[in-house]
Amino acid sequence: MSSSLPIGIFDSGIGGLTVAAAISKILPNEQLIYFGDTAHLPYGDKSPEAIKDYSIKIARFLISQDCKMIVIACNTASSHAYFLLKEEIGNLLPVINVIDPVVASLVSKKKYRNVGVIGTRSTIQSDIYASKIALSDPSIEVRSLATPLLAPMIEEGFINSNISFTIINSYLSSPKLKNIDSLVLACTHYPLIKTEIEQYYQGNVDIINTAEIVADHVNDKLTALHLLNTSKTRQHRFYVSDYTKSFEESTRYFFGKEIHLKQQDV
Ligand code: DGL
Repeated sequence: MSSSLPIGIFDSGIGGLTVAAAISKILPNEQLIYFGDTAHLPYGDKSPEAIKDYSIKIARFLISQDCKMIVIACNTASSHAYFLLKEEIGNLLPVINVIDPVVASLVSKKKYRNVGVIGTRSTIQSDIYASKIALSDPSIEVRSLATPLLAPMIEEGFINSNISFTIINSYLSSPKLKNIDSLVLACTHYPLIKTEIEQYYQGNVDIINTAEIVADHVNDKLTALHLLNTSKTRQHRFYVSDYTKSFEESTRYFFGKEIHLKQQDV
């Protein structure tokens, strides 16, 4: 496999752009192909079967674009479709999920005892963070809370507004998150409201920056596989299953003016 091939990244919408931007920052030579499944957004309220179906179709599209690696830049799809993707296409190219690197990084710090996790209803119901953390360190207590309004709120552009402030405060003040020492943003949309979450906690809780952890993991994996791109010719490509103006604006926010956004059925 040639190291100059692109990295395929997907999410239900703009959330995975936080991961794509973090990858682009630490790996400036890499070309990215991003797929936002906006026609099926939000994934957080879909059945595991539907999420598996969307994910495998997107993965096949990314393979048809000659990607050298697939990053599932979505916690909901990582919770439900990672094993399917590993099984179906893992022999063709490496598949990365966003959960394992975050759990490994969190546990390795050895300083957190009460970890809060917020994510979509589907991710939280899967209990994947609590079970993976328990496998590595059963003494860590995990307190999970589904925050289903956050991804649609962010997707609609309600950031740093009265609406986002009220919704974020109402979720974070839940008794379920009482006395946590760290908070995992277990949805790739949430780094976009990280500042508001930090304001709520006023430095008393560590907010785990999941996008950067995943980007570091991608770097390590490409290095180990001798697949880091050494040439400097890159042009990212962005696809959506349903074109929306807000997706285009968000993509420009992360990647500047020169973006090529195409509608693509899978
Ligand atoms: N960004 C996604 C995640 O990490 C999904 C949000 C959604 O579509 O509900 O879970």
